[in-house]
Amino acid sequence: MCGIIGIVSREEDVVPRVVDGLKRLEYRGYDSVGVAVVSAGSLVVRKSAGKLADVVRKAGISRLSGGICIGHTRWATHGPPIDVNAHPHVDCSGSIAVVHNGVIRNFSSLREQLESRGHTIRSDTDTELIAHLLEEGLREGLSPLGSMARALSMVTGSYAIAVLFSSDPGRIYFARMHSPLILGLGEGSNAVASDVTALLDVARRVVPLNDGELGWISATEVALYRLGGNGELVPISPAELASRIKVIEWTPESASKAGYPHFMIKEIYEQPQALLETYNGSVEDPSLARSARLLVDARRVYVVGAGTSYHAGLVFSYMAATLARVPVYPVIASEHPYMGNAIGEGDVVIAVSQSGETYDTLEAVRDYKKRGARVIGVINVVYSALDRESDISLYTRAGPEIGVAATKTFLSQVMLLELLATFMAEHSGALTGSEALEYRRKLGKAPRITQDSIAASDPVARFLGERGSYKSVYVLGRGLGSSIAKEASLKLKEIAYMHAEAYPAGESKHGPIALVEKGFPVFMVATSDSPHISGNAMEMSARGAEVVVTKPADLSLEIPRGIKVIDLPPSQGFLPYEPFILTPFYQLLSYYSAVAKGYDPDKPRNLAKTVTVE
Ligand code: M6R
Repeated sequence: MCGIIGIVSREEDVVPRVVDGLKRLEYRGYDSVGVAVVSAGSLVVRKSAGKLADVVRKAGISRLSGGICIGHTRWATHGPPIDVNAHPHVDCSGSIAVVHNGVIRNFSSLREQLESRGHTIRSDTDTELIAHLLEEGLREGLSPLGSMARALSMVTGSYAIAVLFSSDPGRIYFARMHSPLILGLGEGSNAVASDVTALLDVARRVVPLNDGELGWISATEVALYRLGGNGELVPISPAELASRIKVIEWTPESASKAGYPHFMIKEIYEQPQALLETYNGSVEDPSLARSARLLVDARRVYVVGAGTSYHAGLVFSYMAATLARVPVYPVIASEHPYMGNAIGEGDVVIAVSQSGETYDTLEAVRDYKKRGARVIGVINVVYSALDRESDISLYTRAGPEIGVAATKTFLSQVMLLELLATFMAEHSGALTGSEALEYRRKLGKAPRITQDSIAASDPVARFLGERGSYKSVYVLGRGLGSSIAKEASLKLKEIAYMHAEAYPAGESKHGPIALVEKGFPVFMVATSDSPHISGNAMEMSARGAEVVVTKPADLSLEIPRGIKVIDLPPSQGFLPYEPFILTPFYQLLSYYSAVAKGYDPDKPRNLAKTVTVE
């Protein structure tokens, strides 16, 4: 999704710093890049479709200098990814530059009105309209801040914007509504950006902005306001601003590749550490016991998320039912609007989101709250919107995840949610206190088991991935294995561009098996709750499928000859270990398949790390 960064400094050094920030935003997914600087009193804009390094070179960005600069990575929503649609966008006079993340909903009517008032709109974007609205405000004699308030009260939709006015060359103006934006407070320089990752080299102290806030930063000052219902500016006091300052613990090193060829493989290998951090940070966190009480006593429990986070929710729903005997309804965030009517007072929803900024998840959460439900957030990015909007926040501690594919955050979510299920089991009476404690003690070994699984999986996954013959595959599992299969197939699709379809293995004979013919690849995710998956493997094999069964080594299955079995580390019959044992193989298979085909696993086509649009 689009990324924004703006830096204003006492030194004339900000252009390379903005480019570095854009580099850190690349992981969000983008198709175009641009910057604007104020140099000798005039605004200079350089932008183009393409990759950051190419645009910096061909658009001459590295030759620009100045003490104030805004930059943008664009992920196309309004209009194709062509040069003219890249941000920043300027007004008719070329003296106001705007970068934007979000979608302006009343785009068509605004465009018509602006054109009828004589503005020349050059791009297909909604963003350019903001520049023209600001221009009108200045023409009416308003200050830059006044023109921001005027323009923003005319637009509907979502935005995080940063603006340069050449008439006010020492300040970056900004505003936020339903799209993430964070202020970074540095020494002799201040910044604004879409996320903390972009600010790691600029500032340790940050202020996450709330919806409806706007203001400006200079090299040494910050002014923050709330936009009132009639477009009036309500100042936010310096004391309130100071009370909202947070200190970032992530380091620039944690967001670098550290010698690995790609972020994805680095993050796969970081899983044992991420799990250890998540375990240590959660196992005695009183918020887990508090959440568990809320969940067990709830009228109904839902778990909502998108993509991989939804799959972690599926694992949770399985664990809550089997371990704690609490039914949990899993909900795909974007589908929530069609089934929200059933929600009411007494319900609790667990919202799972790595970024804490996914539009669909946030919208679902807002609706749950409106209907009276309580919200427990499971979040990796602290101070994100979900963190701020949850009644209770539970943190995975996976560190920054840059690769578009969720890997270490998935298993960290599973770790946290499995721990939560043990607290629920204790509260529901399904486990005694000492049994629950024993479960948690055992979960402390999951980081080590994951490390063993990565070591065992890597050579086999590399061999199969490099063979590169898979175009279309089934990934089948039963019970817990069917949720892991869903995550495996998502990885194969998004990273290796393979048509991978996950099915509960028992369901496969109700239709999907019709596709199976000689040589059709079928991966089986065998878990110890469902040994009869061997029957499904035989059914597939009997129809000529090339079956590969992945399983914990100590799970004994009756598997006839001719079916390939990949034995991964043993689970000692402890089912909660099995996501940690089975998932890395599929992450690595996706990674090596993508690399073998020449795809970039960190930036798969058409995808964004954080999906902040509907
Ligand atoms: O930040 P979130 O966890 O809310 O993101 C949800 C999905 O967009 C995300 O998991 C997506 O499916 C990933 N590309 C999966 O690898």
